[in-house]
Amino acid sequence: MRSWIHHARGRHVRQARVGLGDLREEHISRQGFFGPVAMIYREHGPNEIVRVDGPLVPRRVADTTRVEPSDQFDPRGEPEPMLSNADVSVAISRRAAAMPYAFRNLDGDLLYFVHKGTGMFATEFGRLDYEPGDYVLIPKGITFSLMPEKGESHMLVVESPAPLSLTEHHQTGRHMPVDPTILVLPELCDYGFPQREEHELRVRHRGIHSSIYYRNNPLVSVGWKGDLFPFKLNIRDIIPISSDRIHVAPSAWCTFQASGFVVISFVPQIAVADPNAEELPSYHRNVDNDESVFVHHDEGSSRKPATLSHVPQGILHGADEAARAAFQKRRVPGMRRTLCGVSVDSDRPLIVSPTFEWLSGE
Ligand SMILES: [Fe+2]
Repeated sequence: MRSWIHHARGRHVRQARVGLGDLREEHISRQGFFGPVAMIYREHGPNEIVRVDGPLVPRRVADTTRVEPSDQFDPRGEPEPMLSNADVSVAISRRAAAMPYAFRNLDGDLLYFVHKGTGMFATEFGRLDYEPGDYVLIPKGITFSLMPEKGESHMLVVESPAPLSLTEHHQTGRHMPVDPTILVLPELCDYGFPQREEHELRVRHRGIHSSIYYRNNPLVSVGWKGDLFPFKLNIRDIIPISSDRIHVAPSAWCTFQASGFVVISFVPQIAVADPNAEELPSYHRNVDNDESVFVHHDEGSSRKPATLSHVPQGILHGADEAARAAFQKRRVPGMRRTLCGVSVDSDRPLIVSPTFEWLSGE
């Protein structure tokens, strides 16, 4: 049952995030930004940490090009896991050569986000050419082969045992943030693959690979119909839901969702124009969600491309006092937010992989 009963005591602002003056606002929220909420008002910057004992800390891999997944060197290799739980895993792929087999993942849907590189997902529905900024969704059990062009392709790979779907934003109509006809479907084509004695289909099930050898190439078809198919969507085609008067909660920017997590797209957009309204990420404690953010690009910011950060649920974060002061000095109406990135926010805590832990400690 959703509660609308709110109370307030002491100093507080009438409209959250607006007219704070000398106050600092700390946002405590349940169930992402949808559940019960408390705003705490303080007269000091609340997230200046002196020291931490124990493992519950935000971590950041400053450069995921330092990750060396086995698929970077071995065409039969795999992406490197970075963060995972029972509902979702987030991995880094740097595939440099085509899969020398057709591949079928029976462990879940695969959502690739292309950070760098171009190439083709050869699928049994046809070819999907990819470029930077593309989300490519390969549903569980669909046969495909990932074939990068010259040079490696740096990708974030999100895997979900439960079906991933596009998030519906009922109150914004049918054409934003994603106009459904923006989706790019595979094009049937003649791949020109040579006929061999046998064709390998590599199947992943419960993390273990088996190879089934077929007489004919399982990637080749001449048609299809139905509502189960791979597709792609470029992040530049996602329209931001924004306001010139208030910082909109990132839950408005969900692009995909599945049981236990959401995928949020940060896209460049106009910044909040009202100088009395908060523009930067608030001090917040996302009590029921772990957050992980991958930066695709962010011109003019200290956020470097290819970083991957993780904030465990309940840990206070947000732009610090120094960043707020520096921003307020250069703030003018008409400014734009420049961050373009992808966030995976999960209900269950994310387990940090040894690779993530090692690289975040550098
Ligand atoms: Fe956050």
